[in-house]
Order: sequence, then C-alpha cells, then structure tokens
Amino acid sequence: MDCLGHSPLMPKIEFSNYEGGREQAYVKHCLLENYLAQLAYRVGQKWDAIVYVDGFAGPWGAKDSSFADASFGIAIRVLKDAVAGLKEKYGKTARGLCIFVEKKPAAFVKLNAFAQSASTENVRATALQGRFIERLPDIQKLVARAGNSPFKFVFLDQKGWAAAPIESLRPFVAERSCEILFNLMTSFLTRFVDTETRAESYYRLFGRRGVLERIRALPKGTGEREETAVKEYCKSLREICGFRYVAEAVILDPKQERFVTTWFSQQTIRVALKCLRLLR
Ligand SMILES: C[S@@+](CC[C@H](N)C(=O)[O-])C[C@H]1O[C@@H](n2cnc3c(N)ncnc32)[C@H](O)[C@@H]1O
Repeated sequence: MDCLGHSPLMPKIEFSNYEGGREQAYVKHCLLENYLAQLAYRVGQKWDAIVYVDGFAGPWGAKDSSFADASFGIAIRVLKDAVAGLKEKYGKTARGLCIFVEKKPAAFVKLNAFAQSASTENVRATALQGRFIERLPDIQKLVARAGNSPFKFVFLDQKGWAAAPIESLRPFVAERSCEILFNLMTSFLTRFVDTETRAESYYRLFGRRGVLERIRALPKGTGEREETAVKEYCKSLREICGFRYVAEAVILDPKQERFVTTWFSQQTIRVALKCLRLLR
C-alpha cells in the first residue's frame, strides 16, 4: 500500500508499524491525520481553541514506543503543527486541547503518562479514566474552559457498537462548533444482529425503532446488511444529532473482499475522499 504521493496531504505515519495485521488501522490513522490537519487549519483561523476528544483512546495495538501509531499520538502531533502553522502563516494565536478517555486501567496508565509528557503550553493534553459516556460532563467542563470559542473534533473508535448510544451522544455533538469522526465496525455489528438479547443495544446505537428489523430482513454475507447499517447510522446522525452533512468512507479488510469498518464524518466530504484517493 502506498500513500506516499507528492501532495500536501502526505501522511507522516510510518506504515511499518502497521504491517502484519494492523493495515486497517493505518488507513484509519491516515484518514484521521489528514482530516484533522485540514480541519484544524480551517477552524483555527476563526475559533480560538481547537479541542480534540478521543473517546476510546487506547493505547490499543500500538507498536511505536512514542505512540506515533496511536490515534492520540497522531492527533496531538497534528494539533501542534496546526497551532504553530496558524501563528506562522496568519499570526493567529489558537490553543489546542486534547482530551483522551480510556476505560481500562493498564492502558490508562500509559495514556496518562503520554498526555503529561506531550503537553505543551499551546497544546495541552488531559487523560480521563472511565467510560466515555460517563465522563461526558467532565469533558464538557474541560471544553468550556479551553477558550471563548472552542471547536470540538470528536473521534469515536469503539470496538463494538454499544458504548456510544446516540441519545447520550446527542447533547455533546449537536452543536455548530463540532465535528465527529465515528468508526462503525460493521463486521462486529452485523455478526450479532440476529441475537434477540442484544436488540436494545442496537436500538440505542441507532436511536430509531425499525432499523434493526430492516437490517435483519437483508440476506447475510452479501454486504447489504453492512451497507444498510451505515446508511441508517448516517440518517441517525442527520435526524437525531442534527448534522447537515454526513459523509462515509469504507475501509476494506486487507485479506478478504469484505468491509470491516466504515467511517462517518460530519463535514467536508472532500477531505475524506481526497485522502482515500491518495491511499489507492
Ligand atoms: C479500538 S481501541 C482504540 C484505538 C485507538 N483509537 C487508535 O486508533 O489508536 C478502543 C479502546 O477503547 C477502550 N474502551 C472500551 N470501552 C470503552 C468505554 N466505554 N469508554 C472508554 N474507553 C473504552 C478499550 O479499552 C480500547 O483501548
């Protein structure tokens, strides 16, 4: 895979950290890097603080000792570059804040040490332990203190589908100064779709009755269930969270002809599509 074309979107992410089983994470991280970089430059010209919220931060599977191959390591690097670039190019002083959330104690210890060591005066990082949804009130307080006009970029990368019910998410993301990049692991999601005991967790993900039944009615193994789940989640983001623009990008399994992951971003479909073109 080569995403090292001559382009302003050239990723700084080292592919060797992902070889042998983490190739999808490489695509995911290139998308995060490219999207966040362009967003930060754009909103940093107008808003006085750019806040990156990583709700399911890890570390999880990272090989690099300085976490250059973890979402939080990539995001803070990108924010630091953007804040420095905004000052240099436009004379604009913008602050960066990274809020990382991780549930597992052992991973949190590493995350917290990273946040402390990577913080600078212009881009601070804070790690919170616990479930993302339960920490939302604390996250909101940190965001409110970040500046007079903070802009939030929320990255949600859970492994399953049950930890970010859309009704709990709505008050946090349904505002103008917010974008979200949401990873819907369609391979996990469709695996248990026929299990009756999990029906309520699907309802909480989509926030609308009838979605589960529409997915169940489709044949297994054709990709239709995955595709419908993605479309329905996009619809929930529009209808429940009030996002005007919702784009999707598909990440393929490197070894099989099937989708494993699908991404949504609220705005700027061009960024995601440009990124995907580079990755081909
Ligand atoms: C897919 S991994 C994250 C990978 C990371 N975003 C990256 O790209 O490098 C999901 C992480 O979320 C954590 N986690 C699971 N449930 C959680 C919850 N409810 N709240 C916060 N973190 C959670 C897991 O322990 C795991 O470290």
